[in-house]
Order: sequence, then C-alpha cells, then structure tokens
Amino acid sequence: MLKAAWSRLEAAAQSARDRCIDSLFAAEPDRVAAMSVEAAGLYLDLAKQPWSRAEREVALDLARAGGIEAARDRHFAGAVVNASEGRAALHMALRAPKGSDFEADGEPVSAGVDAVRAAMRAFADAVGSGAKRGATGKAFKSIVHIGIGGSDFGPRLVWDALRPVTPGIELRFVANVDPADMALALAGLDPAQTLVVVVSKTFTTLETLTNAQIARAWLRAALGQAGDGHLIAVSAAPGETAAFGVPDDQVFGFGDWVGGRYSVWSSVGLSCAIALGWDAFQGLLDGAHAMDRHFQTAPLEANAPVLLALAHIFNRNGLGRPVRAVVPYAQRLHLLPTFLQQLEMESNGKQTTANGAPVARATSTTVFGDAGTNVQHAFFQMMHQGTDIIPIDILAVRQASEGETVSQAKLLANAVAQAEALMVGKSESSVRAELAAKGMATADIDELAPQKTFHGNRPSSFILLDALTPQSLGALLALYEHKTFVEGVLWEINSFDQWGVELGKTLAVAVLKELEGGAPGAHDPSTADLIARLKS
Ligand code: F6P
Repeated sequence: MLKAAWSRLEAAAQSARDRCIDSLFAAEPDRVAAMSVEAAGLYLDLAKQPWSRAEREVALDLARAGGIEAARDRHFAGAVVNASEGRAALHMALRAPKGSDFEADGEPVSAGVDAVRAAMRAFADAVGSGAKRGATGKAFKSIVHIGIGGSDFGPRLVWDALRPVTPGIELRFVANVDPADMALALAGLDPAQTLVVVVSKTFTTLETLTNAQIARAWLRAALGQAGDGHLIAVSAAPGETAAFGVPDDQVFGFGDWVGGRYSVWSSVGLSCAIALGWDAFQGLLDGAHAMDRHFQTAPLEANAPVLLALAHIFNRNGLGRPVRAVVPYAQRLHLLPTFLQQLEMESNGKQTTANGAPVARATSTTVFGDAGTNVQHAFFQMMHQGTDIIPIDILAVRQASEGETVSQAKLLANAVAQAEALMVGKSESSVRAELAAKGMATADIDELAPQKTFHGNRPSSFILLDALTPQSLGALLALYEHKTFVEGVLWEINSFDQWGVELGKTLAVAVLKELEGGAPGAHDPSTADLIARLKS
C-alpha cells in the first residue's frame, strides 16, 4: 500500500515539474487559504510550493498509507520507536504539564520528569536570586555551558534567541575540542563567579570530557578543591558522572529515552533556565507542548508538521531536489539552520530502513542556511539563478524583539519579497523591454537579457511568528521535530539512532594514539602521510 502511494506521489510530481507555481493561483482561487495552516501560534504558508491541491491530496494519501497517525500515537505512547537502541523517544513527556502520565516502554516517567523539573527550577531560582553562591561567597555572574551536538545546539539556539540585551548572568558555550574554543570562552571570567555546566547524555564524549577537565582545572587553580562545587553535570549516565568525580547532588539527570538532539527540553536546558529565568524556560516547554497537542489532534490535512514534511518530501522525492535552504529573517534565529542540520540530518540521513533493508528512495535533504538578509549577499545569487532548484524555508517574526521599527519593516519586506521573487522570477521579454526602453542596442540586449532573466518557479515555505517568545520558539522547534519524525516514518527509517557518527570517533581515538607517539597503525597512504606530517 505504501509502495503504491509512493508511486502515485512520484507520478503526480511529474506534472508539477514544468508547471509554473504562479499559475496555480489562478487555477485555485482559494489556494492561499487551502495551503496555509495555523498551529500553536505559528502561521505556515505552503502556497508557494510546487504542488497543486490535487497533488497535495496525493501527498496526504501517502501520509495515510504510511500510517502516520498510528506511528504518531505509538511515539506518544512511549513505544520503542528507536528499535536499534531498544528505546522509546519521548521528548514530548518533558514539556507536558505537571502530573501527566507518559510511559516509556511501559514504565511511568512523568513523576520523574516533574521531580527533575522542580529541582531545576529550585536551582535556577537560587542561582538567579543569589541565594546560591560560589565558594568565596560571591553570586554567580556567568555560566560556561560545555557540551556538543544535541547537548549544545538547542541550548545555544535558545539562549541566542531569547537572551536579554544586557543579561544579568552571562552564558557562554564551549563545544569544540579545539583549545581555542575553551580559551575564548573562559577569557575575562572570574572563576569565583562562574558556574560550569557540563552537559553530556553519555558523559563519555571526548570533546566534552576534555573540556570539562580543563574547566575543572581552571576552577581548582583559582578556588582550590572548593572549585569543584562550581561544576554541575547534566547527564543520563549517573555512573559516568560519579566516575568523573561529580557528587550526585550536583547532577541533573534525564532518561535514556531522551535523544540528544531532542534534549533541550530536559535538564540539558538547565543553563538557559538559570540565565533566562524559570518563567522563560517554562514558556519554551509550554510552546512545544502546544505544538505536541496540535500534532496529536489536528487532522492530517490541517496538521502543520505533517504538511511541512509532505512539502519537503514532494520536493525531495517527487522532484529529486536533494538540498534545502533554511533562512530565518531574524538575527536571533541565525542558529536555527545549524540546529536543524543535526535534527534532520542526524535523524534521517540514513540508507537502511529500521529493519535493516536498503531504503527504497532518497532520505534526508542536505540543510543549510543562515540569517536573512545577510545570506542574500552570500548564496542567494545561486538560489535565484543557479542551475539547481533549491527549495527554501523562510521564517519571519512580525514584531521586533528590540531595536528600530524602521529596520524591522525592511527586514520583513525582504523576507516576503525574496519568497515572491524566487517564485515569480522575471521573464526575458520584460528584461528585454526594460533594456530597450533605456536605449540599449539589440546586439547588447541579446547578450545581457538572458543574464538578467530570472526563471523563477523556486519553491518556498513561509513560517511567520508574531513575536519571538519562549512559547513561539518552543512551538517552532517542536514543529521541526515532528516534521522530521513524519519524514522518517514515510522513509521507513529509525529517526532516533545515529550509528553513522561512530566510525569516525573510533578512528580518531586510534589516530590520537599515534599522534601521541604510539605505534603506527594500518592506514591508506594518504592518511599515513598526514599522520606523519603532523608528527614531524
Ligand atoms: O554526534 C553524535 C552524538 O552522539 C549526538 O547524537 C549527541 O547529541 C552528541 O554526540 C553529544 O553526545 P553526548 O550528549 O552524549 O555528549
């Protein structure tokens, strides 16, 4: 059934291949209303996607044939959707209201979630109010958050998006094992007023443990053994935090059913909860929960994560477009594309199904992007006139968080105009007419007009937030989480494991031993040469 639905989608997309998206507005007078949806305070406009209403129906049939509703319900019920690691994936439990009754693989988890949340809140309030002080009696003024991948991208994005212009507590992030990252993060900080929050689900990650050791040495050098009291661990592996020497009362836990890239809602968000204040962190959880409820209850044809996933699949599989840009017209969201790179590409960048069979079709798109309008001066030339059609998610925020309203109007104008320009383009005949009106000779027009022509027909999704608040940010991230899940179900892959990151880690350990003087291992000539150069 699913196979047949895929064939129908692929066939339907062929009709869209050479058709002008723009022409669909005349053919479908209510297209904007039919192709847009509001969810948890977000507005999603998919009218500039290449599908007609009938073709969107075919995509919805694919979702039905793929059993999206049943898969979603199993996901929320805490079934083992991450089969290769034998776990549920239940980040939704982390943002559900107090007293909920989530179960992960039959085990109740909500009481534990509530207890950790209460402990986080108490700690965040105590640090924020100055009730909890450092070893010398001074209040904490800065936090160094150490973590990588899912233990970094989410908190870093949340902080950047919501931080006060002049924060009471400064929050800095260190992810890279590059010593420069740590050196820059610690520069100018007073250890007596700095809390170090080490975040690692496994507490075995090379980069994070290396940086944690450096930070602990930095604290001890200034504060002696009492400096250890400034180091907090966040992890799902209490045995490992104990082995690292962090006392249990300085550890905030979370369940192994929380995937790293889905973990910002857990105690992984502790640094943000402290530096932004508890109310903001709770708002983030509330916004995500509102999107969870929408995903669970909205019919497929009005379900924002489902529709966004189908639009992306229509481009990826129907039209063979392997790349997608994500451009937030909001400086505070400039890290969203990076966050989505892990969320989408680590979740769905897979070549085998959850049963170990080769996938039947292409999976994750390559995601790239950065803040508009900056990227208009970087890769937008290619977006408009390159040989590849690159679909784009454009995000905009109606109200500015701060600053001049005159700038905000210009920012929004650019967001809307770029989506329009990408779709509508500019015909060669209108370019020729313009050049002729300026008195240009025909021979020159022949040369220049094609270069100034925009073929258009480049699809976009437009996501509009009223304001960038904790709630709208939470809803936005949950929208993309569920969209990624829907894609994974239709591609029949496990979106919650990441075996593809293991091989490189293992080889790095072997190479490190050699760089540190160990016996040379068996390598290809290129690798052996690089190792030799680095040792010389
Ligand atoms: O990049 C691989 C990965 O395992 C991610 O999935 C994870 O978010 C990251 O490393 C960090 O892992 P940890 O939180 O265990 O340090």
